[in-house]
Amino acid sequence: MIQILHIAAECYPAAKTGGLGDVVGSLPKYNTQAGILSAVIIPKYSLRWIENQHWTTVYTSSVWINWRQWHFRVQQQTGNSLGYPLFVVDIPGLYDRPGIYNDPSGAPFGDEIERYIGFQQAVLDWLLSFPWQDRPRVLHCHDHHTALIPWMVKYCQAYQQLAPIPTVFTIHNGQYQGAFSPKNVHLLPPYEASARSLLDWGGIINPMATAIKTAWAVTTVSPSYLFELHQNSLGLESLFRQEWRKEHGIINGIDSQVWDPATDPMIQFRLEANNISKYKTKNKRVLCEWFGFSNEYPLVSFIGRIVNEKGADLLPDTYRRLLQSGARINFLILGTGESWTENEFRSMAHQFPGRVNAVIDYNEALAHQIYAGSDFLIMPSRVEPCGLNQMYAMRYGTIPIVRSVGGLKDTVPDIGEPDGSGRGVRFDQFSVEDAVHAIYRAASMWYNDPETVVRLRERVMAIDFSWEKTIEQYFSVYRNLGARIQAEEVKLQATREETRAPEPAPVRKAAKKVPPKKTIIKSTPVATAPPVAATKPRKPAKTENNAPEKPADTPKSKPARKASKAAPKPKRPKK
Ligand code: GLC
Repeated sequence: MIQILHIAAECYPAAKTGGLGDVVGSLPKYNTQAGILSAVIIPKYSLRWIENQHWTTVYTSSVWINWRQWHFRVQQQTGNSLGYPLFVVDIPGLYDRPGIYNDPSGAPFGDEIERYIGFQQAVLDWLLSFPWQDRPRVLHCHDHHTALIPWMVKYCQAYQQLAPIPTVFTIHNGQYQGAFSPKNVHLLPPYEASARSLLDWGGIINPMATAIKTAWAVTTVSPSYLFELHQNSLGLESLFRQEWRKEHGIINGIDSQVWDPATDPMIQFRLEANNISKYKTKNKRVLCEWFGFSNEYPLVSFIGRIVNEKGADLLPDTYRRLLQSGARINFLILGTGESWTENEFRSMAHQFPGRVNAVIDYNEALAHQIYAGSDFLIMPSRVEPCGLNQMYAMRYGTIPIVRSVGGLKDTVPDIGEPDGSGRGVRFDQFSVEDAVHAIYRAASMWYNDPETVVRLRERVMAIDFSWEKTIEQYFSVYRNLGARIQAEEVKLQATREETRAPEPAPVRKAAKKVPPKKTIIKSTPVATAPPVAATKPRKPAKTENNAPEKPADTPKSKPARKASKAAPKPKRPKK
């Protein structure tokens, strides 16, 4: 029996644009290994990994969105190769597109509201078909795309049977709240009139606010981020403060089976016999060859979305300042995002050949090699709910240089800490001066105190960032809500049949459904645009290639760019 059902828009390797996908793709595996069978359900996008799987249809039905009926089916991945059951909701016309949030040119689809409402309804509709004793013990919703579920099960007549199941809402990114205009309230399924106010925040419908009000528990992906949301969360501060009793900050883990320098098939030289120096030196040499760098200088890399949230726009001036003052440091950038900053990196690669290089692309395999071969990884984030890259870096022996914010603060104590707990270099202000100073400190250590670097590498590589450590905190959140979760022997293949929902009963047939009545509520139309990015994509479309399974795409097969050549051209047209 599925004990925890994770409901999300992303799940690696099926669909990933960032950390949300990584977490949803790995947390259930470790829950399941601990004996708590957990499953994931996401929309069925037309993406490569998804299209290459075998799917078994376990349920068919339909949902109404406004006047339109959408037929859907829920399918389960055959074989459970991910270590947990993965389900998808196939809604032809709504989700079968070659992107998660955007089309391949980077443009948002424009019907996000219908898409998320349809997905959430379909999931609940499917759950209703389970005999009550087989229903999951917890519905765990992730980010705004699934934030209306806690409200729907409480207040929408159609789903109220599910109301006794505890709901947990995890915030991976509070910048995107999914807000939309009250003019669209009719897209929601019928609900109790008294519940209308729970949808509202500041005159608009704000799913994230609704989840904070109605979920049984709210978690964020690090304790510091939770604290920061109380200070600054794009208008939700007072709500976060009001609901503090049910909030928990739980730091993410990483999939230490995938992220293991001793076994990683995507890196050129694996860690053998715990010989860290040999492993780092060889991998760095590879990177330096590919990118035309000298081995003799420290290599500082940036990996991630080139967006303001991640602070990538601070780097061009920071690097320029350092290079113009004669600093002997090399800089490598991997990622895609905002054109202005992408272009800055491209032109810097021309201006400083042999010192700066940039791959404006999403490339999982190259990312692994950069973690293995760099000396430092910089994360100058403006906001960082948890951050996984600093953990990947440390696991691969790369010392993080981070801004003291959110999860970075919780995972990277500064090397100057008197208790000797340091793991990297930290800076406080989001300013070129502070970032320059931090890189300067790191480089000075590299040049003047190589022994400390060696010791630091050993220390960070020995840290246990695995999920095994943190899942217990989630289990105790679930249990405190009264969820009767229980460790049991999980035999995935054998339980696959059992996890199937029964054939839909006739009453659940789409034909018997009637469109929702619109008389329940009279919304007050408010013309103002939502203050937060309602339908904005979380991440750039280019990162939706989810090519993890494709080491053929390794950096080797890509032309390694010598710094003297032009920086790589982006593959997608400029916005
Ligand atoms: C989002 C956050 C990131 C976090 C990840 C997983 O991508 O920006 O900080 O690590 O979600 O929770």
